[in-house]
Amino acid sequence: ATNRTFTMLKPDAVEKGHIGAILEKISASGFKIVAMKLTQMTKADAEEFYGIHKERPFFGELVEYMTRGPIVAAILEKENAVEDFRTLIGATNPADAAEGTIRKMYAESISENAVHGSDSDENAAIEGAFHFSGRETF
Ligand code: CMP
Repeated sequence: ATNRTFTMLKPDAVEKGHIGAILEKISASGFKIVAMKLTQMTKADAEEFYGIHKERPFFGELVEYMTRGPIVAAILEKENAVEDFRTLIGATNPADAAEGTIRKMYAESISENAVHGSDSDENAAIEGAFHFSGRETF
């Protein structure tokens, strides 16, 4: 297993001014930022990134949401990064997310859920490489 995961602070979190608070929580939880940028996904980017959800009824809504404004993309390093980060962000639906998790604190709904976390080491590597070149990763 690698010790890295990939995250995005999604457009709703950026719009509401939560970048600083969420990054503070991520850092305080022991994750080291090894790549980071403010960027906006194109429709083609989002369709590719979320390709696995193509047949889902919410796919169009998801692409619309993820492209409507800037996101913060980042690669994070920590022992057991993928699993520990998913614990930190909480359940996909903020209504089900544990107290103190990022989604419980900052997310509005299952569709606009503030933050992304890779679900496996393999996807962490794919998603990190989607957003960052080797020269942008430290
Ligand atoms: P995430 O799990 O990071 O990646 C897939 C995203 O699709 C998810 O976050 C939500 O933003 C969105 N999503 C998941 N389930 C639903 C749903 N039932 N309705 C709308 N959006 C969803």
